[in-house]
Amino acid sequence: MNEAILVTGGAGFIGSNFVLDWLARCDVPIVNLDKLTYAGNLENLASLRGDDRHVFVRGDIGDRHLVGSLLAEYRPRAIVNFAAESHVDRSIHGPEDFIQTNVVGTFHLLDEARRYWEGLNPRDRAAFRFLHVSTDEVYGSLGPEDPPFSETTPYAPNSPYAASKAASDHLVRAYHHTYHLPTLTTNCSNNYGPYQFPEKLIPLVLHHALAGKPLPIYGDGGNVRDWLYVADHCAAIRLVLERGRVGETYNIGGCNEKTNLEVVHMLCDILDEVRPKTGGGSYRDQIAFVTDRPGHDRRYAIDASKLMHELGWQPRESFESGIRKTVQWYLAHGEWVAHVTSGEYRAWITKNYAERAA
Ligand code: NAD
Ligand code: TYD
Repeated sequence: MNEAILVTGGAGFIGSNFVLDWLARCDVPIVNLDKLTYAGNLENLASLRGDDRHVFVRGDIGDRHLVGSLLAEYRPRAIVNFAAESHVDRSIHGPEDFIQTNVVGTFHLLDEARRYWEGLNPRDRAAFRFLHVSTDEVYGSLGPEDPPFSETTPYAPNSPYAASKAASDHLVRAYHHTYHLPTLTTNCSNNYGPYQFPEKLIPLVLHHALAGKPLPIYGDGGNVRDWLYVADHCAAIRLVLERGRVGETYNIGGCNEKTNLEVVHMLCDILDEVRPKTGGGSYRDQIAFVTDRPGHDRRYAIDASKLMHELGWQPRESFESGIRKTVQWYLAHGEWVAHVTSGEYRAWITKNYAERAA
């Protein structure tokens, strides 16, 4: 077995942040397997061009032959699985890709990992890890007074996205329980930060605000999410990978519960300060309440005390500091935004928003 790790989905939002942070901290090579769907973008990894610590392979986690040959060639000591279809609204319009990648793809990846792991010598078998990156959405929706999700909260996924991630978590659990594959699962709250595709709330609002377009808020804007800066999520994954107990799951969250309206107001207020509108007025004037998402989960909240107490993890960013960094990043990376918001992106915006009357 080598020192290298295999990362899947490393050209997406969280995966690319993870790859960049990892290689900024150490020289352990990464083999990055990504299908480059609409959400995958090699521009996120441009700073690694010519860096032989990063090997990029375009391909599908569901392609067993490819996965098997990568494991045989690079003999990694761990797999970190970010690859997924990740957007709830897209899962409502077209759930099939979610089942294919998140359920069937994860199954094939797991099964190839098992085959590889079973062929290792006893020392390497003990050291190997399969870390599955998942979401708090598997736990369903909370009422206003409910305690936050813990690792023992029963699964109750409500969207096709959440159901497909829940299924993948169950497969990971079963591969540990049945075959003793050394797995770890993390369930994290909503991430934000650099390189997030502008179909998700925060980058979408920034993009629309600067373009003078309406800022679409589903329903009454009172839905609550717990927000975590992406670098804090990546730090938690590194910690769980190195020191997490095999077979365990760890919840990751920022203790930053905000309603969507609060988030959008904060974004508008920061923009008003750092990039005032040329014609005067506030970006808040662009807010438009639109038809709600079907089955819209009302509240997510995470109890991350297991991760904090067992492994000593703490988020470094508050929501206020993280959101300012994020706004600055999007302002400084207009070209990146321009590239990812052409073509397919426009078709998606029409599909998702045309029928949501303001
Ligand atoms: P993303 O949509 O930005 O990126 C997903 C990446 O996976 C893309 O690069 C895409 O090309 C790749 N991919 C998709 N299907 C693939 C396949 N079949 N084979 C190989 N690569 C494939 O997603 P993200 O926001 O970076 O999320 C990464 C992971 O973290 C996902 O598993 C998601 O469920 C989980 N997660 C996300 C959040 C969040 O707020 N974004 C929160 C908690 C957990
Ligand atoms: P999103 O970023 O899609 O993440 P998730 O659905 O995984 O939580 O959405 C975050 C919240 O913002 C969610 O409650 C839905 C809401 N939302 C809007 O109000 N308007 C939008 O245009 C989008 C994309 C999301």
